[in-house]
Amino acid sequence: MIPNEIIDQILDKTDIVEIISGYVPMKRAGQNFKGRCPFHEEKTPSFIVSPAKQIYHCFGCSAGGNVISFLMKHERMEFLDALTMLADKANIALPRQSQADRGKSSFADKLYGVNNMACDLYRENLTKEDGKTAYRYFIQRGITESTIKHFRLGYAADSWQGVINHCKSKNIDLETLQKAGLVLQREDKKNWYDRFRNRIIFPIFDLRNRVLGFGARTMGTDLPKYMNSPETHIYTKGKHLYGLNFSKEYIRKQDYVIIVEGYFDLILPFQNDIRNIVATLGTALTPAQVQGIKRFTKNAIMIYDSDKAGEAATLRGLDLLIAEEMNVRIALLPKGRDPDSFVRKEARPGFMKLLKESKDLFDYKLGVLTAKFQKNSPQGKARIVGEMLPTLAKIKNAVLKAGYLKKMSEELSIDEKAVRAELEKVKPEFRASLAPYSISLETVKEHKKSPASLAEITLLAIALDDAEYLEKIKEELGGENFKDESIAAIFKKITELRKEGKKVNPSHLICHLKGAGTSEIISEAVSMNQIIRDKEKALNDCVKRIKGDSQKLTLHNLQSEIKKAENAFDTNKINRLIAEYSELIKEFKKNGTSVKG
Ligand code: UTP
Ligand code: MN
Repeated sequence: MIPNEIIDQILDKTDIVEIISGYVPMKRAGQNFKGRCPFHEEKTPSFIVSPAKQIYHCFGCSAGGNVISFLMKHERMEFLDALTMLADKANIALPRQSQADRGKSSFADKLYGVNNMACDLYRENLTKEDGKTAYRYFIQRGITESTIKHFRLGYAADSWQGVINHCKSKNIDLETLQKAGLVLQREDKKNWYDRFRNRIIFPIFDLRNRVLGFGARTMGTDLPKYMNSPETHIYTKGKHLYGLNFSKEYIRKQDYVIIVEGYFDLILPFQNDIRNIVATLGTALTPAQVQGIKRFTKNAIMIYDSDKAGEAATLRGLDLLIAEEMNVRIALLPKGRDPDSFVRKEARPGFMKLLKESKDLFDYKLGVLTAKFQKNSPQGKARIVGEMLPTLAKIKNAVLKAGYLKKMSEELSIDEKAVRAELEKVKPEFRASLAPYSISLETVKEHKKSPASLAEITLLAIALDDAEYLEKIKEELGGENFKDESIAAIFKKITELRKEGKKVNPSHLICHLKGAGTSEIISEAVSMNQIIRDKEKALNDCVKRIKGDSQKLTLHNLQSEIKKAENAFDTNKINRLIAEYSELIKEFKKNGTSVKG
């Protein structure tokens, strides 16, 4: 779709170190930069970024690639989105895309554009005569003028045609407005009307500050209290967290996130300088949302309303966060308060104190349960243990889990062994429930190479260096091919480029070859290249290894064919095979390959 030359140009005008250091703290280490890998848990850094080669690689989990692969993996961006973002930064115009793609992306862009226009209109309404009540409503709820601007808050006029008329003057058709969720069609299919009327407006943004949709609150007591944009082509509710675009940098810096429920519960603390905060907008926390947070921190404090609904939501969210290996604490609000009213009364110091006094997940859940069930009756104990165990089972850290088990048996005065036995029973269900989320480490680890393909990667590392080595490897291998299909494909590509007298640029190569695992293999080879001391020796050893492996396989096959021929009393065949066999053994000896095994 997009010519390789343009992709190369964008890569050349981008600095991988600059981009990655926006996400991962790194220090210079020789010719590379080094930091803790964002793709797996580690204490000592094994994640390196090479400014010279423009690639990254983790020696721990084998993640690797160029800047585009990084954005795709870390930010979960599509290739084209990552490329577009870098192209924008580099001031390079992308050519028109293929028909289908153009349709798709321009439709999304259209919706973003329409939403943005509506957002501006709502904002402007707030400054007009009939927006005064709305403006006063914000002020009355403690929101300042600059906060209104920051969050782009607004007002939907008390009219059936506010957005419709505004957009008519801008030549936007009703259908687009409907797809953006801004207008609805009457049953007679003739007339259209605005979805949001006489309500204050909260635009909802994605991480790139594009307007995805809106929340609209009544200023009176009519229901529903909030109306929201429907799911649209660009807005999937369970995927987004309100405020993350404003808070992500604070979350990263402070290394924890505060999770609240509502718009006001986020905005008021934010205004009081508590900025590492996101809101779920009243819906249950989803795995996709937790994944979104995890890119910035592994620590969370939940503050939900202190009512029954809040408690239930907290408990559900708690289990999900634990399953996603986040560390969670729960801050408890006084009865009848929410974060919004609390911070308005107690200001930042009070809020910080609340956070400081937040409870450990275990204490919180046990507290909830002991308030519900009789801690002293056997039945009550059974209920409490029954509800605690699924949560404890989700804790992956064995030491932590053992500690909680001990604590629970003490607090309920029951035998620890009995609790352990019960926990064993919970396990299968726990695994099943985890299955849809377990994407991380295991998948990455599967990528670990066998020793044979380590030899292949080493050869690739050497071949990337210069044309002479490439020729030498091909000579030495003598027609022997690489078993790993991706490596074979990379080799073929390098050979082609060399034939055309072109340079081999690993970072470019990653985008030209889109095979599975290609970016990891190339980045590993590049990183390995820096550690190989004696290239000649490494080359010879690896060729021997690859040839040896394949000869061993041939030998093995010959042996079983000889057996078959023997069973069939086929003397001619037996003799021919044995001759072949001895030829091979001779060659082995010459190459110094061990025949055993
Ligand atoms: P709350 O009922 O706790 O409202 O719902 P709130 O945020 O405290 O609002 P105020 O303080 O009364 O103005 C929490 C969140 O749930 C969603 C909204 O996102 C809200 O912020 N919600 C609530 C809806 O989507 N629809 C509703 O009818 C109510
Ligand atoms: Mn509230």
